[in-house]
This record gives sequence, structure tokens and C-alpha cells, in this order.
Amino acid sequence: MLLDTTAINQQRNFFDKHADLWLFGYGSLIWKADFAYLERQPAYITGWARRFWQASHDHRGTPEAPGRVATLIRAPGAVCHGMAYRITPDVLGPLDVREKNGYLREKVPLTFLDHNGGEAGQREGLIYLASGDNPAFLGEASLVDIAHQIANAHGPSGSNREYLVNLAKALRELGVEDAHIFALEKQLEST
Ligand code: BEZ
Repeated sequence: MLLDTTAINQQRNFFDKHADLWLFGYGSLIWKADFAYLERQPAYITGWARRFWQASHDHRGTPEAPGRVATLIRAPGAVCHGMAYRITPDVLGPLDVREKNGYLREKVPLTFLDHNGGEAGQREGLIYLASGDNPAFLGEASLVDIAHQIANAHGPSGSNREYLVNLAKALRELGVEDAHIFALEKQLEST
């Protein structure tokens, strides 16, 4: 049984009294910002690592052949780079629906980067996190197995391959080194 997190996230209204908030994207939000935002800025979070460990039954796969998409796992000392968007709180409603398959809103400290990659301040921000206890969490698998699953998954939002390729491209454009993503991209090329 999958977990629809839409209603739970409506209660996780950490920033509702704020005129605006920062949303940190580490997966599709980096390259698919199909929502209104006031500004955006490269940023990172610490203690988290990006992994293709969450199943997608509704976007990049189907219930019969789920894809694999990004989530975060706790990793002391790790740095996860992405893109932060300053948004108004009303933007979150549609995102709750888009990311309803196990993702919960969480509050985390963000560190912003300037155009030269230097640190440009810190703020509390929001992420969508699919943790290990949600029913669509798949967890670790070999690069070969993950790439095989991605190569064979397609869903209403497009192919799972496109999701990974777009994410790797966006990270390269940000000048970010992410060993898991780039190794997976390489594996997918030969799958
Ligand atoms: C993100 O890009 O931050 C994101 C990934 C999966 C679900 C929601 C957001």
C-alpha cells in the first residue's frame, strides 16, 4: 500500500506565517521548476546524500514497472548540492500533489552559494524527503540493477532515463560533483 502524503504535508506548514520561504531542490526540482518562484540560487545542505532509492509509480514508472527517483539519506559529513527557490507558501499545495508518493516536507538549514561558488549566507529552508519508512522506499541496490530498472521504466511524466540524464546534466552545469549520480549515468549509457 503506497502512502499519499498530500494531507500530511498540509499539516507540516512550517512556513505558513511567512511571506516567502526557500525550497531546496535536489532532484527533479533542479531542472524542472514548473512553479512560480521569486528568485533562485545554488545552495547546499549538509549531512544528506542524494540516492536513487525511491520508487516512482506515478511519474517515471507505473505500479507494474516502477522507476527509481531521487531521495536523500542521512550521511554525516556529506554535502548535497542543489538549487534553492524563494517561493510564496501557496506554491507548496500543487507540489504536495506532484510529490505525494511518500515525500514529506522537512525543514533543513541551507547554505547559499554566490556566482563564484563562495558561501553567501544561511537560512532555514524546506525539502521534500522520502525517508526509509515510506512504502515506496526501495533502498540500496547495485548500480547495474538500478540502471536496469531506470532503463526499463516509463511513466506519465516521461522516461526514467530522461529524469536521470537531466539531473546529471543540471548538476554538471552547476559544477557539482556527485559520484552516485555520475556513476549511475555512466552505467545507464551501457544499459
Ligand atoms: C527535489 O528535487 O528536491 C525533489 C525530489 C523529489 C521529490 C520532491 C522534490
